[in-house]
Amino acid sequence: MAAHLSNKGKVAIVGCGLIGQAWAMIFASAGYKVSMYDILSEQIENAKNTIQKTLQDYHQKGCLKGSLSPDEQFGLISGTSELRECLEDALFVQESVPEILQIKHQVYRAIDIYISSNTILSSSTSSFLPSVLSEHCKHRSQFIVSHPVNPPYFIPLVEIV
Ligand SMILES: NC(=O)c1ccc[n+]([C@@H]2O[C@H](COP(=O)([O-])OP(=O)(O)OC[C@H]3O[C@@H](n4cnc5c(N)ncnc54)[C@H](O)[C@@H]3O)[C@@H](O)[C@H]2O)c1
Repeated sequence: MAAHLSNKGKVAIVGCGLIGQAWAMIFASAGYKVSMYDILSEQIENAKNTIQKTLQDYHQKGCLKGSLSPDEQFGLISGTSELRECLEDALFVQESVPEILQIKHQVYRAIDIYISSNTILSSSTSSFLPSVLSEHCKHRSQFIVSHPVNPPYFIPLVEIV
């Protein structure tokens, strides 16, 4: 892989279901390194397999984003079942766990331990206010909502709260 591909920095995806996978592909298309974490290790494998197939499919159909090849984009994406490893050196964290407040709060408590005072913590939430989501966060001033419109890969519209 060319050296310039990894110079942009790293994005962490926490929760790699439908929306987390779409974010991973979008960030990789722009040349960011992406680390995906999920509470289910089989979901991480599933996400990687789906992304690899989808990137090739979009390339063949002429709708792959960015200037990198599908293999180069896939090469930027990794998965880990260690939250700490996922978050290490990340400049941006996109949380995409289920829309259940208790789960989101639990996840932020864990994320809070590992992120630095420069990392942006962003949620894909469809319904919760950032003030409610971040109420127990140590890094509260770094918290935002980035709500994508589905399908995120094809609709370039994100609500920033
Ligand atoms: N589906 C949509 O159309 C859509 C659109 C915009 C925003 N959203 C928002 O995006 C978020 C994710 O939605 P989705 O549709 O991708 O859900 P999903 O169920 O497809 O994926 C959620 C993932 O989170 C994982 N997970 C559960 N608990 C976890 C934990 N404690 N730590 C780490 N991972 C955990 C699950 O294993 C799963 O892989 C929600 O907040 C939802 O409101 C969804």
